Amino acid sequence: MTDMAHLGLYGLGTMGSALSLNILDNGFALHVANRTAEVTADFAKEAGALATRLTTHASLADMAKSMPRPRAIILMVPAGRPVEEAIDDLCDLLEPGDTIIDAGNTDFHDTRRRTAKVEGRGLTFIGMGVSGGEEGARNGPSIMVGGTPEAWAGIRPMIHAISAKFNGEPCADHLGPDGAGHFVKTVHNGIEYADMQMISETYGMMRYGQGMDPAMIGARFEAWDQGVLKSYLVEITGKVLQAVDRETGGPAVDVILDRAGQKGTGRWTLIEALRLGQSASSIEAAVAARSWSSEKDTRVAGEAILGGTRGAVSLDDQDYADALLAARIIAYAQGFRLLAAASEEYNWSLDFARIAEIWRAGCIIRSALLDDISAAFRGEMPLGQLIFAPAFADRLKTTLPALRRVVAAAALGGHPVPALASALSFVDTFAMARGTTDLIQAQRDFFGMHGFERIGGASGQHGPWWD
Ligand code: 6PG
Repeated sequence: MTDMAHLGLYGLGTMGSALSLNILDNGFALHVANRTAEVTADFAKEAGALATRLTTHASLADMAKSMPRPRAIILMVPAGRPVEEAIDDLCDLLEPGDTIIDAGNTDFHDTRRRTAKVEGRGLTFIGMGVSGGEEGARNGPSIMVGGTPEAWAGIRPMIHAISAKFNGEPCADHLGPDGAGHFVKTVHNGIEYADMQMISETYGMMRYGQGMDPAMIGARFEAWDQGVLKSYLVEITGKVLQAVDRETGGPAVDVILDRAGQKGTGRWTLIEALRLGQSASSIEAAVAARSWSSEKDTRVAGEAILGGTRGAVSLDDQDYADALLAARIIAYAQGFRLLAAASEEYNWSLDFARIAEIWRAGCIIRSALLDDISAAFRGEMPLGQLIFAPAFADRLKTTLPALRRVVAAAALGGHPVPALASALSFVDTFAMARGTTDLIQAQRDFFGMHGFERIGGASGQHGPWWD
């Protein structure tokens, strides 16, 4: 593909239409189509003055056939079967020199498989993670690209133009081959889940333990957004908690059923973590919390049977802020550990500093910490562990006491804080040279003759259990 590829986009849902307007706004001509033609017509109206650069088509096939070559077609359709079908159709319609770009939240294993399939047909395939929700897609998302360097060269000017900028630098880059971009996006979402969960656990403690109302808590989040916790998720939490429901006049958050949805990226992060022999416990806790939240009836029954009550908590605002900062550092650290494990497994040579840089603006987990994280990856980092980088080790040392106070108060008061607690246990585990798995090894040997490694000695040893 060359810089001259003609652009097409298929799938004009919320994200697809926002990204299309962004592309048009940046001066690129664009062909579009959607599964239902009415949506395409509505989009053309919505495009207003930008429609001068827009060509609409009745179907994906019509679009592919009538576009001049070389063609680069962006798919903005739901992950799974819709993407698979669109790719199959395009494989028959496109020709060597053309490119298919999957810009959805796709499981990177699918991307790896599809790259082999599509490139086997002489076409180019790009798996592209796009973060930032609708607003980001419209005004500048963070973009994580996987594919060949040649494929990247062909779309780079357009991707750089439409992406978010941090200090004028595009928050978009080529991160590696085939599934690398989609995997980095998946881990981004895993961190997003953990951060959201830790924020909501903090809110829960402040609300049900300290007796603060949502607007008061929202004001605290708004204030925290001016300091080290500055981030998109803290910012929107401040706004959400201060919002008033139009119907009841009460806090907007109070009319929302406490059952969290999830489309799969958090779960995929965990599945891959386990496959890689890793664990990202704060992300696991966040996925678990969403799953448990969906069992509303069980929780209602549980409150009646087990008598769940939440006790009063008395902590300073600063404790919550520090605890959240410590836990956030740990969630990022766990995400980067997964990226490192996958990079090794799949030979991606991921550039962690660069990934942190392209997450500094546009994406959902953008936060003030990411600039420091990229600096940490470029500096001294013992064993490649973010929590050991001097700047982060220092921050953890000053904020961990608060995380302990929050988790301890939660435990005593009966407030569930699975993500905060698991973040704390993670860092406590890695802050200790000797743990307790000596006993696990002994037990394994006792019941299964599995053998253990003697300190300073040989492996395959057996204990005196049966003497
Ligand atoms: C982003 C978001 C985006 C989407 C999530 C929501 O980076 O822009 O992560 O991709 O909002 O997929 O995921 P859940 O529905 O699983 O919460």
